[in-house]
Amino acid sequence: MLDSKTKIAIAGVGTVGKGLIDLLLKYKDKQSKIEISAIASRKKQEFKGATFKNTVFFDDAKELLKFNNYDILVELIGGEKGVSKEIVFNALREKKNVVTANKALVSKFWHQLHSLMEKNDCLLKYEAAVAGGIPIIKVIDEFLLSNKISKIYGILNGTSNYILSNMLLYKKDFKTILSDAQKLGYAEADPKFDIDGTDTAHKLSILSSLAFGCYKNVLKIDNEGIENVDLQDLEIADSLGYKIKLLGLTELRNKNIKNFVYPCLLSKDSFIAKIDGVYNGIVVESNFCKKSCFVGEGAGAHPTATSVLSDIISLSTRRKNGFKKSHKFHYEETSLQSRFGSYYLRFTTYDKPGVISGIANQFKIFKISMKSMLQKEMEFENSNDATIVITTHNCLEKNMMKALKQINRQNFIRKKTVYFRIENY
Ligand code: HSE
Repeated sequence: MLDSKTKIAIAGVGTVGKGLIDLLLKYKDKQSKIEISAIASRKKQEFKGATFKNTVFFDDAKELLKFNNYDILVELIGGEKGVSKEIVFNALREKKNVVTANKALVSKFWHQLHSLMEKNDCLLKYEAAVAGGIPIIKVIDEFLLSNKISKIYGILNGTSNYILSNMLLYKKDFKTILSDAQKLGYAEADPKFDIDGTDTAHKLSILSSLAFGCYKNVLKIDNEGIENVDLQDLEIADSLGYKIKLLGLTELRNKNIKNFVYPCLLSKDSFIAKIDGVYNGIVVESNFCKKSCFVGEGAGAHPTATSVLSDIISLSTRRKNGFKKSHKFHYEETSLQSRFGSYYLRFTTYDKPGVISGIANQFKIFKISMKSMLQKEMEFENSNDATIVITTHNCLEKNMMKALKQINRQNFIRKKTVYFRIENY
């Protein structure tokens, strides 16, 4: 195939679809012979000009199940089920190549997609599924082939990073900044996945599967989102020399695999803490390259469309790479319960004698040692309340959770205690 024109069928013309069409119109490379043979879009849109002279338009992507005049299906609808799943699986069964930005689908059906590709000798490429404009899939799948990767971590969701950065910068609340991120086309159609860590878990699952050759079921990733990050936590963390970031990590050590997604405090000096706004930042640790760091816009029309177009061009010039052979790899899960690290704790209590000793008693029982403590003056709320912030030395997560459970039951506690892990990445 593909000696003459590469015909692409585009399913979905939302933020990324529009970005792709825009890039195709501006893409000046004379060698490029990409023809849009079909566009499926639920919304009526105007496409004018020579680029679309051979294009068939559908208002339902299901029509693509009966349409055969394409070499590459470009699936930009998203979602792990429904029409996006149907057309992707159908295309692979028909021995067509697929390019997608669909992290939910790729992470959930990693093995099934892989088997279909092997069976039918076709490829699915998904650079746009992880970290928008950072070519992290190519880095792992091509550039680092000679290295043994041990750890990948960083910020993988542009929307949540935009929210955390701008809440602190403009002293605005969560909802206002989220609405800005939606207007800018960063957030998912349902931003719940951006906020609750699911989007990061999808991307982490793909990176883990690709780097370590083992499928990491996204449902098994310890996953917490940024819903509970309050402006006051960002400000207190800032005054203590930290930033709060939504961190995703996958690590393979001695056949033990550790994966997590959670918001945590990172020293302001660290590479990841310096990544602000819609930018994503990823660190890959490997035996020969040691630490490789990548930064780029993690969401939005043009960065993500650049990844989509890169996959299309790569397929159209027959540069064949895609999924690695899947390994039957046995590994043990390392659960968060065994985490040994430090914590940031914000207690909201009655301002009365015995509070600190009540907290300290539980710390003693569960072998938790305090590193710093400050009591904030209450500015707006009931003056009988106190806000106490404690950071700890390293302790076992299991013990910290037990201690917090006991502390939250004490009669001096006014609100459930807020906690974040402090990381050294
Ligand atoms: N909603 C995603 C993000 C888009 O904010 O990172 C890119 O996957």
